Amino acid sequence: MTTLLASDRITLHEGEALSVLGALPGSSVDTILTDPPYSSGGLTLSARQADPAQKYQHGSTKRRYPAMLGDNRDQRSFALWASLWLAECLRIARDGARLMVFSDWRQLPVMTDAVQAAGWMWRGIITWHKPSARPVLGDFKRDAEFIVTGSKGKPITHTRRCLPGVYRHNVNASRKVHLTEKPVPLLKDLLEVTQPGCTVLDPFAGSGSTGVACLQTGRSFIGIELSPEYAAIAAQRLTEAMKE
Ligand SMILES: C[S@@+](CC[C@H](N)C(=O)[O-])C[C@H]1O[C@@H](n2cnc3c(N)ncnc32)[C@H](O)[C@@H]1O
Repeated sequence: MTTLLASDRITLHEGEALSVLGALPGSSVDTILTDPPYSSGGLTLSARQADPAQKYQHGSTKRRYPAMLGDNRDQRSFALWASLWLAECLRIARDGARLMVFSDWRQLPVMTDAVQAAGWMWRGIITWHKPSARPVLGDFKRDAEFIVTGSKGKPITHTRRCLPGVYRHNVNASRKVHLTEKPVPLLKDLLEVTQPGCTVLDPFAGSGSTGVACLQTGRSFIGIELSPEYAAIAAQRLTEAMKE
């Protein structure tokens, strides 16, 4: 593990999630907001194990990004693996902490299994509607991804607002720096359920979007990223966001 950033508000580790999580103290974070590799994208084994740049980009939109790692598990091993890191996250979370984990339609059933197998209380599904998703001739458009929500025991409530269950945000394809980057405005909306000033953990930080959302909303962030290229991109992005 290499620690690329370490300030009172932002910590970024380059390393493997399970091994770094194992080194973090118990009951030390308030929220887990993360977007793991989905290991999705096809009906057959070869389709699932294809290069993520092929799986998650389509004809006219192809751009080059650093390789995304850890995206080639079959569904059973994905569920087992997810339950391992989710159990570590549960240990690191404080009582009443919130969990929010991204998934797509294909992996949603196994992700909800893994969340519960790891000991989290499953609380529901949030829908992220992406109108910019590509249309499918003769079929329904798959223009949603999902956020599985949970809590460590009884959740602590921090807002008096009734939050929506569906959020609508487009991906900014021309500006994104990660193959499967999530929009910062969406992440900021999700953080509304947490307490300002709290500590948020993202073990699959990618380009650091969750960290940017934390900085913009007054939360502290701990991120982990395996790919040296993406960890460097996240470090640069977060350093710039700290100056804003
Ligand atoms: C879906 S992407 C996250 C994208 C991020 N939300 C963003 O907006 O940039 C998942 C990330 O997890 C990383 N990853 C895969 N396996 C990992 C592991 N075992 N430990 C840590 N990071 C891992 C991948 O390299 C990838 O960047």
